[in-house]
Amino acid sequence: MIQIKNITKVYKTGTTDTVVLNNVSFHVESGDYVAVMGPSGSGKSTLMHILGLLDSPTSGTYELDKKNVAAFSKYELAKLRNRKIGFVFQAFNLLPRASALKNVMLPMLYGGVEEKERQKQAAALLTRIGLENRLLNTSNELSGGEMQRVAIARALAMNPDILLADEPTGNISTQQGKEIMEIFNTLNGQGHTIIIITHDALIAHYAKRIIKLQDGKIIYDGKRRGIL
Ligand SMILES: Nc1ncnc2c1ncn2[C@@H]1O[C@H](COP(=O)(O)OP(=O)(O)OP(=O)(O)O)[C@@H](O)[C@H]1O
Ligand SMILES: [Mg+2]
Repeated sequence: MIQIKNITKVYKTGTTDTVVLNNVSFHVESGDYVAVMGPSGSGKSTLMHILGLLDSPTSGTYELDKKNVAAFSKYELAKLRNRKIGFVFQAFNLLPRASALKNVMLPMLYGGVEEKERQKQAAALLTRIGLENRLLNTSNELSGGEMQRVAIARALAMNPDILLADEPTGNISTQQGKEIMEIFNTLNGQGHTIIIITHDALIAHYAKRIIKLQDGKIIYDGKRRGIL
């Protein structure tokens, strides 16, 4: 499903070049569940942005469903992102004054789903994730764990094949983190491909496969059992 080959990302600041990803290659099959680990600054978020079509590599190729994404226009990329990929971030990135329902409806608005249907599907997603009593609460009225569940419901709004999560448990309690990871496990069981960034070995334990980055290079890629 995802195939990246010799991806390099270089940031230029002034006259210095910083190589953030250095010749990274791997593929991810449909239904996989990957935890990307590595120290701060090792390039995890940069990799995630590239996989999520939010950024492009300096060199190397990225094929999504056997299509080279470099060939897509900005418009096509946005459309693909909307349909194919759901994002979950450490800081939730919800609209603070909008209700949980409105937050989850938003990707469907961009996806061209009509209003009644958006509302119905958003309510169903929030119910599926245990927030049926919080539909009309604004996100600043919710706990961290609840906000992250709203963010997951929003990520699922267009029923994407792939879920990308960058430190989704970084801003919530250990218990809330476990609940979030149980949700990801269930979603993986339902066929969603999951790639999650984490520093935390306990969180990575939920994944099937671990990719370890260090200084922009992959230093381990294999079964979780082989390393944790
Ligand atoms: N836009 C940018 N311009 C220049 N350097 C950048 C830019 N974005 C990231 N970097 C640098 O690239 C390196 C990797 O950043 P990245 O955010 O991918 O790390 P990370 O592994 O996600 O770290 P963390 O665990 O702290 O989130 C860092 O040294 C960072 O300072
Ligand atoms: Mg990061």
